[in-house]
Amino acid sequence: MYQLRGVTKQYRRGKDTVDALAGVDLTIGDGDRLVIQGPTGGGKSTLLQMLGGLDRPTAGSIELDGVDLAKLPEARLTKFRAESIGFVFQSFNLIPTLNAQENVETALVPLGLKAADRRERAAQALNSVGLGERLGHLPSEMSGGQQQRVAIARALVKNPKVLLADEPTGNLDESMRDEIMDVLETMWKELGLTFIMVTHDSSIARRAPRLVTIRKGRITITENSKAV
Ligand SMILES: Nc1ncnc2c1ncn2[C@@H]1O[C@H](COP(=O)(O)OP(=O)(O)OP(=O)(O)O)[C@@H](O)[C@H]1O
Ligand SMILES: [Mg+2]
Repeated sequence: MYQLRGVTKQYRRGKDTVDALAGVDLTIGDGDRLVIQGPTGGGKSTLLQMLGGLDRPTAGSIELDGVDLAKLPEARLTKFRAESIGFVFQSFNLIPTLNAQENVETALVPLGLKAADRRERAAQALNSVGLGERLGHLPSEMSGGQQQRVAIARALVKNPKVLLADEPTGNLDESMRDEIMDVLETMWKELGLTFIMVTHDSSIARRAPRLVTIRKGRITITENSKAV
């Protein structure tokens, strides 16, 4: 369970400071599915980075299962990210010179698995997102939707506790968007993940059971009983 209390994040630019997060209090239960939306520059990506331990808040605490990520020493934070957090980004972020299987394997390198186990688990993860026939393909040899599936396999191959996605369908056309949302929701259900996603897409936001809207670093929470 995540427990955020008074989370603020200030970025300094020369003499100016930007309040990207201005005192966020939020609880997210294990296995929850949460959608974050709001205007550009509102603080969505900043919040996701705090939840994933990619950056630290200026003030406040971000507890995951009672451990405050804001205070964790750098080495433990790195280990925590490698083991517990899967990230999916708008721009896929695949390594162009590695094939699908090798891209997925990169997530397992910090976990110290043997090469044969890495290959096997990467193949399984690609199978589970419907890319079992594409293990040897380079990113340039795949469609956008397929590349994003590889990125999802890479995020999930380590069996993370939490999946964080920052506009995962932002670079895709409508049919691929639906395809990727189906994959993500299936994974969420099957793996019991906590799934937190930033989106600009109001049709996705409407389907979310719990919606966090961020404007100027402040959140409002909407519960939606009609969510599917
Ligand atoms: N590394 C940084 N240095 C300085 N300012 C930053 C940095 N990252 C973000 N900001 C500022 O913090 C605010 C929140 O940015 P953030 O990226 O979280 O917004 P966002 O809601 O994700 O926007 P978008 O929808 O455009 O992705 C913005 O004003 C942005 O300019
Ligand atoms: Mg953003």
